Amino acid sequence: MDVETVEKEAIEKLEKVSNAQELEQFRVEFLGKKGKITSLMKNLKNLPPEERPAYGKRVNELREKVERLFSEKKKQIEELLERERMEKMRVDVTLPGARRKVGHSHPVLKVMEEIERIFVSMGFDVVEGPEIETTWHNFDALNTPEWHPARDEHDSFYITDELLLRTHTSPVQIRTMLERKPPIAIISPGKVYRRDYDATHLPMFHQVEGLHVDRDLSVAHLKFTLEEFARRMFGKNARIRLRPSYFPFTEPSFEVDVYLSGYGWLEILGAGMVDPNVFLNVGYDPEEWTGYAFGMGVERISMLKYGITDIREFVRNDVRFLSSY
Ligand code: PHE
Repeated sequence: MDVETVEKEAIEKLEKVSNAQELEQFRVEFLGKKGKITSLMKNLKNLPPEERPAYGKRVNELREKVERLFSEKKKQIEELLERERMEKMRVDVTLPGARRKVGHSHPVLKVMEEIERIFVSMGFDVVEGPEIETTWHNFDALNTPEWHPARDEHDSFYITDELLLRTHTSPVQIRTMLERKPPIAIISPGKVYRRDYDATHLPMFHQVEGLHVDRDLSVAHLKFTLEEFARRMFGKNARIRLRPSYFPFTEPSFEVDVYLSGYGWLEILGAGMVDPNVFLNVGYDPEEWTGYAFGMGVERISMLKYGITDIREFVRNDVRFLSSY
C-alpha cells in the first residue's frame, strides 16, 4: 500500500469514528506497532537508498498528521461523554421533594415541660431522683408509718422488702433536703408506679413534685404559687381552691382544685405544709424552717387541658391521637 492510499483511508475512517471503542480500533489499525503507518515505515529498507530520505519524511509527516487528527477526535469524544454524563445528572428542581416524616414529643412530655417552664420562671430548680427507691425514702422519711395502706403490696411494685418502684415523686423532697441546705425551691418531674389500671389510672404515670423550704413560709405562699401556676397553665381567669385533706408528710394538707368554665371544680394536685416530723427526719430544725410541698399528676393535667377522657389513650400509641396535640 502506498502512502496516499493509507492517508486517504485513515482520514475517511477517522471521520466515521463516533465512540471510544471505535477510536481505539482506529488507533490499533493505523498508529499501533503493527499498524498501517508503521508498516509503511518498514517499507523503507526495500527502497533504493536515494529514495529513502524523501519517503521517510513523507511517512513521518503522515504519522504526525494522523496523530493530530486522532487527538482532536479523542477530545471531541471525551467532550461528548462528559456532556452525556452531565445530562444524566441534571436535577429537576421543580419536582416535589420527598418529605421525611418527623415525629414530636409525646403530649404528656410536652405538658410536663410546660409545667417545668412555669416553675423555673418563678425561681424553682429542676431536680431528678431514681425510679427505684428505698422504702425509707418513699415512706418512712416521709412520715408514712409501717401500717399505712399506701405501703401495702397491693398498691406498690416491690422489688425486695426494702426496694420498690417509687409510688410518688415525694422521695425527691427527702433526697434534696439531705443534699442541700435551705433555702430550697425545687420541682421534680418524673415517672411513678402504682398497681392500678382503668380509664383514670395507669400503672406508670408522671408527677411533678414541688418543694419550697425557707423561713416564715405559710399557706399564703403555697396558695399564691399554685394560683400563679394555674393561671399560666389554664388561662388568666383560672381560679383555685384548697380543700382540707390528709397526707402523712404535710400538715395541714390540701387537695387543690382548679375552676375551668364548662367543667366546674376539678382536682389537680395534692399539697400542704411540710410536716415537722419530715424536717426532723432530714436533720432540719422545725423551729427554724418552714416549707410547703405539692405533687401533681401530669396525665391528669393533660386530660383537663385537652379534654381527654380516657387516660389509656396516652399509652395506646395511636398516631392519630398523639399527633393531634
Ligand atoms: N405525693 C402525693 C401523692 O402522690 C402528692 C403530694 C405531694 C401531696 C406533696 C402533698 C405534698 O398523692
